[in-house]
Amino acid sequence: MNDPTTPPGLERAPRASLVQLRSFEAVVRLGGVGRAARALHLAQPTVSTQLKELAAALGLVLFEPQGRGLVPTAVGERLARTVREIGAAWQGFEEDAAALQGLRRGRLRIAAVTTTEYFLPDLLGPFARQYPGIEIELAVENRDAVVARLERGDDELAAMMLPPTHLPLARWPFLENPLVIVAPTGHPLVLRRRLRLADLTGEPLLVREAGSGTRAAAEQVLAAQGVAWRPRMALGSNEAIKHAVRAGLGLAVLSRHTLAKDPAVDGLAILPVVGFPLRRQWHLVWRRDRALSLPARTLLDDLRTRLQVKARPRD
Ligand code: PGA
Repeated sequence: MNDPTTPPGLERAPRASLVQLRSFEAVVRLGGVGRAARALHLAQPTVSTQLKELAAALGLVLFEPQGRGLVPTAVGERLARTVREIGAAWQGFEEDAAALQGLRRGRLRIAAVTTTEYFLPDLLGPFARQYPGIEIELAVENRDAVVARLERGDDELAAMMLPPTHLPLARWPFLENPLVIVAPTGHPLVLRRRLRLADLTGEPLLVREAGSGTRAAAEQVLAAQGVAWRPRMALGSNEAIKHAVRAGLGLAVLSRHTLAKDPAVDGLAILPVVGFPLRRQWHLVWRRDRALSLPARTLLDDLRTRLQVKARPRD
């Protein structure tokens, strides 16, 4: 029956079986029926019969005698090449099949510093939708807690600003993290056009809890500039700091990403301090001494592709 949906070659090819083709290719490549039979763990007469049947099925002369042996004819060489191409295509299929199975279900553990909670779920969205069988566990903790998780190997990937140097980590800086100084909108300093860090030292400073990377980055810059601006109060989250600043309890250093596009909607203003925003970056990190799972590699590829075109900082 003439089926117009069958690819043209496939209508005729089944006259030759894959088993025959495999033996034929081995004879050509290894230069003899005996060697091919040994390599394929078949009896020599079996291979000889396969070759005869193959030649008959195709109506082609595949070998010609040379000396005491056989060499492939030109069309025999061409067939051997075709068999290798079929093999390569099949291998590609098997690899893709394994990959598709591997992404059908599984688990991907990611640790992320608290500041990334403002955008990381959005970044993970397309991957999560594409692979609904992969359960994503996102642990959101401060910088020191994420470092402890990396030491234990709890997660495959971690998103953080200050990766530790004592672990064998690969890192990919994937997004800018500008750090700004915020005040309540009604604060007199908000009207100033330009401020130096030293101008702020009379103001109460609110900081994140010990172990926070945001706090560490702020302390580093104060120390580097020799500015003595002592914390008045430590609070355990970015949101708690924003509320406290709005309530007039003090000023704070925060990631720009923790603020609304227009910070005034939350009653906050960014102060024009020289040297700020501090240009920092978030990295995705993973341990070099552990193999990344297929879901983790796929997520990294997905983010690399998408972040090349978007995800610029918002300041
Ligand atoms: P954290 O985040 O202040 O929540 O520790 C810091 C970071 O961005 O690494």
